[in-house]
Amino acid sequence: MAMKTAAGLQPGETVLVQGATGVAGRLAVKIARLLGAGRVVATGRDDARLAEVGADAVINTAVNDEDLSKAYQQEAYDVVVDFLWGRPTEVLLRSLVPAGFSFAEPTRLVQIGESAGAELTVPAAALRTSGVEIYGAARGLDGGGMAESYAQVVSWTQSGELTFDIEEARLSDIETAWTRTDLHGRRLVVTMRGQ
Ligand SMILES: NC(=O)c1ccc[n+]([C@@H]2O[C@H](COP(=O)([O-])OP(=O)(O)OC[C@H]3O[C@@H](n4cnc5c(N)ncnc54)[C@H](OP(=O)(O)O)[C@@H]3O)[C@@H](O)[C@H]2O)c1
Repeated sequence: MAMKTAAGLQPGETVLVQGATGVAGRLAVKIARLLGAGRVVATGRDDARLAEVGADAVINTAVNDEDLSKAYQQEAYDVVVDFLWGRPTEVLLRSLVPAGFSFAEPTRLVQIGESAGAELTVPAAALRTSGVEIYGAARGLDGGGMAESYAQVVSWTQSGELTFDIEEARLSDIETAWTRTDLHGRRLVVTMRGQ
């Protein structure tokens, strides 16, 4: 929904996934490919986990602002799928400001999550000069579109084109499961089988 409906992703476009080592981000990398993205760039904080997500290029956000900005500037992005917000996305917005006069290359940034922070400062120059467009993930969404997207995800999952890792925990162990911090891209599924 975020890529197709909110951002209007077209086949061949370049997608940047901010927060690609999480559950939603890993799925976003795969879904971008299934929707025909020409190139997928992934950001995260851990090189080993970034190497697993299947992107064409990766950016480690755990560097200083200047180095991160330079890393973002290595290429242009048509669509940004943003699960982070906060500092990394603020640096990204600053990095989009052109150094001199130039005709803007539109970047459609879709705000989906806030793992790195609920707020950021948007530099006026970024909106004025970069051509960036910022949307919420709910843009253009209605019941029909949601049902269509859900059916598409189910279909890809049934055919094995879309996979994701889960970790099962029994409901009786919920007190421990709730506090786990070692999941790193796996979704915790609580089961009640045999209880
Ligand atoms: N609106 C929606 O429909 C929707 C749908 C799905 C998800 N979301 C939101 O999207 C976000 C991610 O969800 P998720 O299920 O993928 O969570 P997750 O599995 O916990 O992944 C979180 C991601 O954010 C990164 N991260 C966490 N703190 C960070 C920080 N301070 N700086 C930079 N990166 C940081 C993590 O990197 P590490 O791997 O290094 O920890 C990981 O890539 C959440 O805010 C969630 O609520 C929204």
